[in-house]
Amino acid sequence: MKIALITGAGSGMGRCFALYAKKFYRKIDMLWLIGRNEKKLKKTAACISMPCLCISADLSNDSGLEKIKNMLAKISPEIVLLVNSAGSGLMGGFRQMTVCESVSMCDINCRGLTAMTSLCLPYMHKGAGIINLASAAAFLPQPYFSVYSASKAYVYSFSRSLSRELRKDGIRVCAVCPGCVDTGFFDGAQKYEKLKPYKKVFMAKDSKVVKKALKDAAGGRGVSVYGIPMKLFYLLCKLIPSELILRILW
Ligand SMILES: NC(=O)c1ccc[n+]([C@@H]2O[C@H](COP(=O)([O-])OP(=O)(O)OC[C@H]3O[C@@H](n4cnc5c(N)ncnc54)[C@H](OP(=O)(O)O)[C@@H]3O)[C@@H](O)[C@H]2O)c1
Repeated sequence: MKIALITGAGSGMGRCFALYAKKFYRKIDMLWLIGRNEKKLKKTAACISMPCLCISADLSNDSGLEKIKNMLAKISPEIVLLVNSAGSGLMGGFRQMTVCESVSMCDINCRGLTAMTSLCLPYMHKGAGIINLASAAAFLPQPYFSVYSASKAYVYSFSRSLSRELRKDGIRVCAVCPGCVDTGFFDGAQKYEKLKPYKKVFMAKDSKVVKKALKDAAGGRGVSVYGIPMKLFYLLCKLIPSELILRILW
């Protein structure tokens, strides 16, 4: 059985990946939708005509990861596509946050994503794809979003190097790096600090970011950046030393 495994599939971009995956990866027979909230996963599944398996698991802890590991071992599917979309972010000063709040971002954004990639790779073969949700926050260290931007720099760097490693196996890895996207992500992210108004101006539509990401990943691109503003930001961060940009902006 050929499957696509999508984390964070109960909402936002993960949900969109579940809705559009088949258009770009035609070999998929079934979707495995993963997240903590089973109700939300079932809502996503109800919108999809293909068979879906909803798996509630917290990917930031060992028991959640163990659950996925055991299911993979039992069913032994061929994974055509892995989308690591589960993630969280909290804006605000590092000193304001509790230890748990800071570390939980690393647990899901870095540890969970790395573990899922490692668990799934044995079931992936030539032609398979991995899509990792990084962020434009990966391009530049961001004061008052420091843990999140660092965690996404990890995802970006990990994805880029893994892409090179897996080339010989015919497995493609794409780091998706959007700016702000209109999902529920910011509901929880604004506990200590509100989203800057200028960022709202560049807010992108989730379905557009996801369709571009799927197209880029299927076409073998290592990085997917949606929209002209974020492309310019990406270029700027490559051309100008980060220290200089930080001094100007903060
Ligand atoms: N929205 C943006 O502006 C933006 C920009 C750049 C990058 N991103 C990244 O894009 C990805 C998707 O975010 P989104 O915008 O779609 O936000 P979202 O709607 O909040 O989706 C995040 C998903 O992650 C799941 N999740 C969170 N913690 C989890 C855990 N411990 N175990 C399993 N699942 C977990 C959530 O599901 P449950 O609550 O059911 O577990 C939720 O479905 C994230 O990695 C985010 O960092 C977002």
